[in-house]
Amino acid sequence: MSRSAHPAGPRHADVLPEGHYTAPPTDLNALDSKVWAQTVTRTTDGVVSVGDIDVKKLAEEFGTPAYFIDEADFRARARAWRTAFGEDADVFYAGKAFLSRAVVRWLHEEGLNLDVCSGGELTTALSAGMPADRIAFHGNNKSTEEITEAISRGVGRIVLDSFQEIVRVAHIAQSLGKRQRVQIRVTVGVEAHTHEFIATAHEDQKFGIGLADGQAAEAVRRALALDGLELIGIHSHIGSQIFDMAGFEVAARRVVKLLAEIRDEHGVELPEIDLGGGLGIAYTSEDDPSEPHEIAKALHEIVTRECESAKLRTPRISVEPGRAIVGPTAFTLYEVGTIKPLDGLRTYVSVDGGMSDNIRTALYDAEYTVSLVSRVSEAEPMLVRVVGKHCESGDIVVRDAFLPADVAPGDLIAVPATGAYCRSMASNYNHALRPPVVAVRDGEARVIVRRETEEDLLRLDVG
Ligand code: LLP
Repeated sequence: MSRSAHPAGPRHADVLPEGHYTAPPTDLNALDSKVWAQTVTRTTDGVVSVGDIDVKKLAEEFGTPAYFIDEADFRARARAWRTAFGEDADVFYAGKAFLSRAVVRWLHEEGLNLDVCSGGELTTALSAGMPADRIAFHGNNKSTEEITEAISRGVGRIVLDSFQEIVRVAHIAQSLGKRQRVQIRVTVGVEAHTHEFIATAHEDQKFGIGLADGQAAEAVRRALALDGLELIGIHSHIGSQIFDMAGFEVAARRVVKLLAEIRDEHGVELPEIDLGGGLGIAYTSEDDPSEPHEIAKALHEIVTRECESAKLRTPRISVEPGRAIVGPTAFTLYEVGTIKPLDGLRTYVSVDGGMSDNIRTALYDAEYTVSLVSRVSEAEPMLVRVVGKHCESGDIVVRDAFLPADVAPGDLIAVPATGAYCRSMASNYNHALRPPVVAVRDGEARVIVRRETEEDLLRLDVG
């Protein structure tokens, strides 16, 4: 097992399941609706389109590489989460997955709240008109400036992540003459079945305050004693790209048990629990994510059942999906530059982006698929590795996939399900210019985050 292999299985570690891609798909021109945004389709001339605009036109107008986000799909997914959880719950979109001012407006219009984890995300949210009381502020080491800004602007809640922060937030709130609504983030001891770098509720990691050793109960004691804080609930986030509800079930049970202990010790029933985000999406046709209404139903049932048996009033539930809302709504469009067949191995297809616009393959051994989108092809399937233009061999966008054997320089290929943690984790490695994000809807395309320019690079480099 390699260093990053996860005991839960190699699915998100760097050991790929053997023979995972032995069989090419039956139809290379088909677009699996599981992994592509809702309005993506192949037009009669064989070119793929999104929001009624074909990718050749999009490439001409906006260049490549570029992320194209299907606005109607984003709104539909946001709405589906909102509707599934209903009026007795809150959905906080996790901005770290992808945040821009347009996205903030869409969320606002669709009735969602927002989870931010830095001053930058907070500024973006506020500048696009998200009401502060609908914002939750996260992070394991928020700076004094960030806490001060969050409290003075009136954020709805700050999620406390350490003993130092309990005192820090209380002190800053008091000095501003405020009482800040807070939750305490606990680590419930669940190992989510995911890559170890994105599993966050087992004990040996940096987030939250441990439940098992009584630390969380002590944190509650301290928070309740401080005038600057109004403790409204307990928060748990168990990891990312999770398909199995079992982890959430254990987490909910342990959080409710803590609520019962708090009632017994302090005579208060905390009114809210937050079960975090982490719901998985389909990156390939083999992934089978649940629908928001199934997730909502399962979570409501677990919490209601546990509260009934602990004789507690059912608290208001909140969740924080990021990837599950934005992930499937975007794809990255690349132009093929070079093609290098390696005899008996595979063919390397180099595109005009790479690890600077999608670090997830290199970092988590994430799996993606890829399709030829500027035309159809009847050529045989060919096993390819899609790589970028960066100066290192780990610069892989799609490790193993099939493209038609006649794929050629100048063709456009697209990688679906890149809406989450791609643009938000993009870098300037090798002084790459980060690609734009273009929103497409009903035949109209508009840039919502523009492409970086060389002037942008030079502006930061003060010489
Ligand atoms: N809430 C909290 C407190 C979180 O830490 C996160 C993600 C979320 C919600 C949203 O999780 P989601 O529903 O998007 O899975 N860069 C990694 C993912 C890191 C997630 C960090 N926290 C990736 O590309 O897979």
